[in-house]
Amino acid sequence: MKLKTMLAAALVALLPGGGALAATVTISCGALGQELQICQQGAEAWAKKTGNQVKVVSTPSSATERLALYQQMLAARSGDIDVYQIDVIWPGLLAEHLEDLSAAVDKPTLDKHFPSIVKNNTVNGKLVGMPWFTDAGLLYYRSDLLEKYGRKVPTTWAEMAETAKIIQDGERKAGQARMQGFVFQGKAYEGLTCNALEWVDSFGGGSIVGPDGKITINNPQAVAALKAAQSWIGQISPQGALNYEEEQARAVFQSGDAAFMRNWPYAWALAQGPDSPVKGKVGVAPLPKGGEQGKNSGTLGGWQLAVSRYSPNKQAAIDLVKYLASEEEQKRRVIAGSFLPTIQSLYQDPDALKALPLLKDIQPTLAAAVARPATPTGQRYNQVSTEFFNGVHSVLTGKQQPEAAVQQIQRNLDRLSRGGRW
Ligand code: GLC
Repeated sequence: MKLKTMLAAALVALLPGGGALAATVTISCGALGQELQICQQGAEAWAKKTGNQVKVVSTPSSATERLALYQQMLAARSGDIDVYQIDVIWPGLLAEHLEDLSAAVDKPTLDKHFPSIVKNNTVNGKLVGMPWFTDAGLLYYRSDLLEKYGRKVPTTWAEMAETAKIIQDGERKAGQARMQGFVFQGKAYEGLTCNALEWVDSFGGGSIVGPDGKITINNPQAVAALKAAQSWIGQISPQGALNYEEEQARAVFQSGDAAFMRNWPYAWALAQGPDSPVKGKVGVAPLPKGGEQGKNSGTLGGWQLAVSRYSPNKQAAIDLVKYLASEEEQKRRVIAGSFLPTIQSLYQDPDALKALPLLKDIQPTLAAAVARPATPTGQRYNQVSTEFFNGVHSVLTGKQQPEAAVQQIQRNLDRLSRGGRW
């Protein structure tokens, strides 16, 4: 045996994890709030436990931009990223580039997760992502200000707008010039698709494209929903909101400058965090209904972990994914960052409930959450979403009226779908 080979053999024998050679695994994580830091902690714990190394790369905060980056890297068969954090709407889009994890994950482990999320990660019989955390849009409110102005938590959008205006006017008069009524994600990107889908669905206007693939956006309820949203701009929401993603909305709310905010659960741990100016003054509720006839509607979000087919470190990458998606790690993440688990038993976990009381009542909201039409539109989902958020954005800026916008979105989607065949 050559010296080099002997040395390598000796090294392997010393390694933890059954003698597999140590690898450096690169994982791309999201970067909203403390997301990157919490991902890094988990990845490093895995590295320490297994003797591998890990590199965490941050990706654009906008889901739309992140998808473009992923698609570029995967189309080039790049081996630079081993593990991708992927959005709930992407398994179908990215499946051809992702490893099938089904052989690596045993059934009892998989069965701990919400079956609907496992199903969403299963493309043509292949498990292309491990469920990591789930998401739904929520209404955040300032409980102290509701009390001060003698207002209830709003249950309809009209009530929300009325209360938002009362609080905004009152606080501005009292000297808080920057006070806003309502902040949300109004930039032209995937986040606006989520917000606007909530408005439309809560008015009974459907989900852009139905489960059967039929385009449904051109309807009077959708028009009513967009009219309501258009009326907020400059009234209870700043013009600047037309350029907000999640983090910009949170910054305004968390500094104490907004009565209401639409955001995902991650904002809870931060708004109630030790150095938050609004700590102890925040409540969350389901997003308002379109009207008495409407319904509460939060868009279903969430993220999965996937292994690239072009990864040079597949075994280690799969091991990292299994570790991060495990019950222990999901528990740490819900406590540290209010990331909603995909493992069902954690919704009854006393430590998790103590850290995040909203866990107790959120299951119905999750079960009723509205899905974006990623399944019926398949490979074209991103184009569908882009047509939708651009159309909605033009309504919010006042460039287009709601009637004209939904007609145009419908026409553009008709063309895209080639007569309903997505
Ligand atoms: C959240 C959701 C994700 C969605 C994104 C839009 O991260 O979990 O599903 O696409 O927000 O901004």
